[in-house]
Amino acid sequence: MAEIVLKDVCKVFEKDQYAVSNFSLHIRDGEFIVFVGPSGCGKSTTLRMIAGLEEITSGELWIGDRLCNYAEPGERDLSMVFQNYALYPQMSVYDNMAFSLSIRKVPKQEIRQRVHETAEMLGISNLLSRRPAALSGGQKQRVAIGSAILRKPKAFLMDEPLSNLDAKLRTHMRVELASLHHKLGTTTIYVTHDQTEAMTLADRIVVMKAGYIQQVATPVELYNRPTNLFVAGFIGSPSMNFLRGKVKKAGDGAAFLTEGGQVLPLPAALGKTLWPQYDNRTLVLGIRPEDLYAFPARNDRLYAAVQGTVTACESLGHEAILHLETSDGELAARVEPGHGAVEDRSATLFLDMENAHFFDGETEQNILYQWRNDA
Ligand SMILES: Nc1ncnc2c1ncn2[C@@H]1O[C@H](COP(=O)(O)OP(=O)(O)O)[C@@H](O)[C@H]1O
Ligand SMILES: [Mg+2]
Repeated sequence: MAEIVLKDVCKVFEKDQYAVSNFSLHIRDGEFIVFVGPSGCGKSTTLRMIAGLEEITSGELWIGDRLCNYAEPGERDLSMVFQNYALYPQMSVYDNMAFSLSIRKVPKQEIRQRVHETAEMLGISNLLSRRPAALSGGQKQRVAIGSAILRKPKAFLMDEPLSNLDAKLRTHMRVELASLHHKLGTTTIYVTHDQTEAMTLADRIVVMKAGYIQQVATPVELYNRPTNLFVAGFIGSPSMNFLRGKVKKAGDGAAFLTEGGQVLPLPAALGKTLWPQYDNRTLVLGIRPEDLYAFPARNDRLYAAVQGTVTACESLGHEAILHLETSDGELAARVEPGHGAVEDRSATLFLDMENAHFFDGETEQNILYQWRNDA
């Protein structure tokens, strides 16, 4: 097991086209790190540079106490698991799993013990004599993960390992991966474009966009204190709602006047923070679907009422997602089943303003919270 440290790592494929820029990260021994971001943001390239499958243009990569920029992939002692399983079709499951150990000349007896132990842990002991063609997608992926595990590497690198599985199996394997990490405690770097996978698996999440790290934080921190508009919109489902507008003085305090002409009162402390400092600057108010209510239930909270037309009402049984078309665009609200809203009719939603986020309309930075990369 090992720490992995990246210092200002860059990757240029074609002249002046940065696929990854100034990537700095200190991964702790045993940590489960997830790289998340939209397609093309540089997740796989970063992982492949760590694996040694892609040359590092500039910067430093440390694995343990060794500078590894120029180390061969085999010398780095890392196991990689890909989206498309990479099993040898002509070999049995047993031989697939044993392969990496046999080429390292590990004694046969020890190989047998490690294959059986790992197969047991992954619930695939009964499949050892089968060929990959006779396995389901989930079983193939388990074999691929098994092969990675039994090498006992310094770290696991996984690139969208669950993307080829159907939704139910993906959830199941996600839980298995989490408990496996719990058992083995091996440093893991996991790449996904799926924010739910990132949130449920990670000790810390690295959010990337266009080759740049946006924020590194625990799932809870990321959810509660997104450093900019991109992170705020990317993490959470349904996404955070955004309303553009300006802060204005209102009576003794301040209010947020939206571009759609709605006046949303601000709690006293928040009003003091924003006004007059941000007077006349365009801001974006962000509010998560669960902070919109069908009824203003608590009298110790300040709610701002927003009116609109219900465009859709998705019932999930234990909750419903309401979509409300307002003068500021569509808002999504996660409400309790007895919400009373009816499609195509008008409705009022109540925003819990204590939980609102505010972003600078130009820089898109969170103005109440700034994250710094101290890696
Ligand atoms: N071998 C390559 N040659 C040229 N450009 C590449 C190559 N691999 C990736 N890229 C580019 O680098 C950027 C990041 O790609 P990638 O790391 O695969 O993104 P992600 O895994 O986040 O979807 C993209 O713009 C992609 O087109
Ligand atoms: Mg990728």
